[in-house]
Amino acid sequence: MIRPAAPADADMIATVHIAAWRGAYRGAMPDSYLDGLSLETVSARWRRRLEDGGGDGRFADGDASATLLLGEDATGRVVGISGAGSARGLDEPTTGELWLINLDPVAWGTGVGADLLASATGLLGAEGCHAAVLWVLETNGRARRFYEKWGWRPDGVTRVDQSFGFPLAEVRYRRPLGL
Ligand SMILES: CC(C)(COP(=O)(O)OP(=O)(O)OC[C@H]1O[C@@H](n2cnc3c(N)ncnc32)[C@H](O)[C@@H]1OP(=O)(O)O)[C@@H](O)C(=O)NCCC(=O)NCCS
Repeated sequence: MIRPAAPADADMIATVHIAAWRGAYRGAMPDSYLDGLSLETVSARWRRRLEDGGGDGRFADGDASATLLLGEDATGRVVGISGAGSARGLDEPTTGELWLINLDPVAWGTGVGADLLASATGLLGAEGCHAAVLWVLETNGRARRFYEKWGWRPDGVTRVDQSFGFPLAEVRYRRPLGL
């Protein structure tokens, strides 16, 4: 089941976020950063962002806003999150952005990721977007295969993200919506 996140979900969101990053980014990010991720800190940040967003999973990054969705397994446990909203840094009003998608490694390969991706792009389509972009680590082969399986393609734009205090080489993917 996919549903919008609420501030009370913050601990589950943080648990998934940290497990996904430790599962996927070992070797791509410093061990000290990944091992230092704290449930309390990440949870508090998500709770505050969702409270500030005013409900229905809304949250902001500067002037841009997005919706955070949760994916639950058959027992109701939250095993994945996805966030989609306006395209940050792009002067393209009808282009949305997949801001994030993270699955606890226990849910990799189960189909929850595809459901979360479809819900996120469906939401962008419902908001009037004709296309969407996302940024993925150049070395994140599993995620890149996942996106390519669902129709996303590199659009030739790359960047080095320094916002975490270490360099992350990223490639941009793009997909038309509503096809
Ligand atoms: C990216 C993510 C959402 C994809 O969900 P998923 O359930 O793992 O995806 P799937 O299993 O459906 O597809 C992954 C692809 O990688 C392949 N794959 C499977 N096992 C793999 C492994 N051990 N290593 C690399 N690739 C693998 C699969 O075969 C599949 O490709 P294919 O269908 O062409 O065969 C999930 O892996 C995740 O949350 N990862 C951690 C966070 C992350 O990287 N987020 C993306 C940020 S941009």
